[in-house]
Formats: sequence, structure tokens, C-alpha cells
Amino acid sequence: MKNKNTLGTLILAAGQGKRMKSALPKVLHKVMGRSVLQWVLDAVVLSEKNVFCVVSKDTREAIEGYQAADARKNIALCLQEIPRGTADAVKSALPALKKRNIKTVLIVPGDMPLLRKDTIQKLFQIHVQKRHQFTILTGIVENPSGYGRILRDAQGQLRAIVEQKDLQSGQEKIQEINTGVYLFDVELLERCLSKIGTRNAQKEFYLTDSVSLIYEEHKNSKLKMGSYCLGYTDECLGVNSRQELAQAIAKLRSRKLEELMDNGVTIEDPASTFIDARVKIGQDTVIHPFTVITGEVTLGKNCEIGPFTHLHDGVVLDDQVLVGNFVEIKKSHLGQGAKAKHLSYLGDATLGKKVNIGAGTITANYDGKHKHPTVFGEACRTGSNSVIVAPNTFGDRVVIGAGSVVPANRNFPSDSLAYGVPAKIVKQG
Ligand code: UD1
Ligand code: CA
Repeated sequence: MKNKNTLGTLILAAGQGKRMKSALPKVLHKVMGRSVLQWVLDAVVLSEKNVFCVVSKDTREAIEGYQAADARKNIALCLQEIPRGTADAVKSALPALKKRNIKTVLIVPGDMPLLRKDTIQKLFQIHVQKRHQFTILTGIVENPSGYGRILRDAQGQLRAIVEQKDLQSGQEKIQEINTGVYLFDVELLERCLSKIGTRNAQKEFYLTDSVSLIYEEHKNSKLKMGSYCLGYTDECLGVNSRQELAQAIAKLRSRKLEELMDNGVTIEDPASTFIDARVKIGQDTVIHPFTVITGEVTLGKNCEIGPFTHLHDGVVLDDQVLVGNFVEIKKSHLGQGAKAKHLSYLGDATLGKKVNIGAGTITANYDGKHKHPTVFGEACRTGSNSVIVAPNTFGDRVVIGAGSVVPANRNFPSDSLAYGVPAKIVKQG
């Protein structure tokens, strides 16, 4: 697409998020294992190289910390000394935009995790094809309360935005709302920002005031402006409160489950299944009810998971693995055909092909200070209620008898049978 070299993306994330009632910045609250901000960043990939984010003193440190842990390290942080409204937020990023010679900027609130990539692409297409200097994304919602309402003139042209607290009677019924996403010509943006004041109910600098300024300017000039209305959509949801956070989680959770089902995964009961954004699942795997999969997890084909299973970050299951009732697995790799069907905890474990973990087997991976690994070769079997203290590395076909406690570093060789408390080898080869 044209113009890409001078295109920048600006995310607004300096607001205090008062309505969240939280010590944590609003945009760092988690939705299915990822921050609200991260969801937004993923949707706005128009200008990988020129991503800017407005932060406050309160949010800077937290966002820096998050950035350090994230692969996307090229976000330029712009400090807004005191959060005094969205126009003021943009103003504090203006020097950075100009320094990088950004001519067109996509502005996105940091609190809308449901925004889709396709929507941003479409908005950009309209902006470029129609040679606009300003394009706004709007949506229609059942309950517009809390959002800025869109006012249009007799020709249907966008005329102004009125914020919730400044509504006049009759305007509260308007269902077309401002999503807070805009494409701006930077020179026009700068002109608008210099004229925006704080004459409104909240005494804040509203970025939304640019719309009436642009409307006036376009009447007497060649300036072109327009909008892209999404129609009825959940994409505009802004996460301002804990209730809206829960709504965002519910929506994105169903999106994820639908995507998995579309790709050939059976999910018997979506209502009781929680699967994080970064989980990948192979075809014909069946997820039974009450399954929770969090973090970055990869499951192969033809696996069967649940009911009542919790898989955490760092779990990889090869094909045909069975994990059943009340089994919790963290940071472990289970080889093809491995089974852990009842009442187990596996942490920092590596299981070869066809290992069978007996009911109640626990890998004791934590000594109070450090985590240690447990490695099983192929086709090992553990008896019911055995405790394997890590670290330990076993050969192939090792059998551990029921009720055994295997102390750390026993490292039984292939084809041995061991049992007891503490477990000793009773048969080798
Ligand atoms: C804003 C819009 C509203 C729109 C809604 C969509 C304005 C005045 N209102 O309202 O028309 O319908 O979004 O969700 O723009 N922020 C800063 N610095 C500030 C203030 C806010 O960086 O000084 C950031 C916030 O962190 C947030 C974003 O800007 O991510 C939007 O601010 P928020 O307070 O959530 O605006 P809304 O009241 O939701
Ligand atoms: Ca908001």
C-alpha cells in the first residue's frame, strides 16, 4: 500500500484508568494471558517500524517492563507529563512523530483489545484511495452509553463528536459512536491540536474536538474527510472498568474457541473451556469439558484432553497424547502416545513416546529455591501414587512401582524395575 514509509501508529496509554480502580495501569490488565495493550499492538500492524505509545509517569515503568519481556521492542515511548485528555496525549507525541518524518498517523486507544487487523487495513484503504486527510472509524452499538456520539450534517457528512458528559437532550439515543481510532494527516492534526481547549464537562483536552474543526475547514477548502462505519460490532469495546474487562475476555475467548473449532479441533463444551490466545492445537484433538489451557501451549493431533485438566505455559504435547481428570501439567514435553490420565502433576518434565503416568504420580520439581527437570525415556511406566523428586533422568522402559518415592538423582537405567520408599532397583535389564 502507498504511503507506508511515512505512516506511523500512535497508541494512547497514559490515561489513569480511574474506572478500573486498580494500582495496575488499565492497558496492562490481562485478557486471556496477554495485556490489553498487547492485543491492540497486534491489531495495528500497519507500520511495524514506526510505533509510538503515549505513556504517563505511572504507566511508563510498567510498560517498559512489559516491553522488555516482549519481542516487540521498537515502540517509542512518549511521556505525557499529566494526563489531561486525549488531545493532550497526542500533543505530547507530536515532536516524536515529526522527528521521524511521519506524514500520516493512525491513532488508536490502548484500551480496545477487540479491534481486528482487517478493520485497520480497510480504514487505511479508504483513507488512501479517497485521498483523505482525515478518516475516522465509527461503529453502531446497542448501548452507546459512555462513548462519544457521532453527529452528521444533512448530507450525512461527519460534523462533530459529543462526549457522553456533554450530551444535549436527544443526543443520548444516537447509536453511532466514536471508536477512538483515526487516520490523520500530521499537519492537519497539528493545526487541530493548537486550537483545542478544555471547554467541556470534564475540563479535558478532547481529541474528538478535531472533528468539528476539520468539518469547518473542509467546507471552505480542498480538504477531504470521511468515516468508515463498522455497523453493529463488538470491536469498539473500550476496557474502562472491570465489567468491560470481563466482557472483553468473554468475547475474545469465544473468538479463540471458534477459530480452533474452524481448524478441526473438537471442543465439547465451549462454556466450560478456557483456552488462551497463544495456544495452538492440532486437528482432531478433542477437548473435554472443564479444561483450562493458559500461556503458550502447543498440542498435537488426535490428543484427548480433560475433563478437568489444567495445562500451563510451556507445555508441548506430541500427537495422540491423552491427559485426563485432575491432571495439571506445566512446562513439560510429552512424546507421542504418552498418557497421564488421572490425578497427576507434571512440572519441568520430558516424557518419551508412550510413557504411561499412573494415577496420582507427582513430579516434585521444586526444592523451595529452584525448579529441576525430570526426564523419562520411551515407554516408562509409573505406578499409582509415586513421587519422583527432581532432578532425575530415566532410561527407556523403566517401571516404578506403586507408592514409590524416588529421591533426586537416582537416574534408573533402561529396563529397570524399582519400587519402595525410597525406591531401589529390584530388577535390572
Ligand atoms: C474516548 C473518546 C470517545 C470514544 C471512546 C472510545 C475522547 C475525548 N473520547 O473516550 O469519543 O467513544 O474513547 O473508546 O477522546 N489517554 C491518554 N492520556 C489522557 C487521556 C487518555 O493517554 O490524558 C488514553 C487512555 O489511556 C486510553 C485512551 O487514551 O487508552 C482513551 O482514553 P479514555 O479515557 O479511555 O477515553 P474514553 O472516555 O473512553
Ligand atoms: Ca476508553
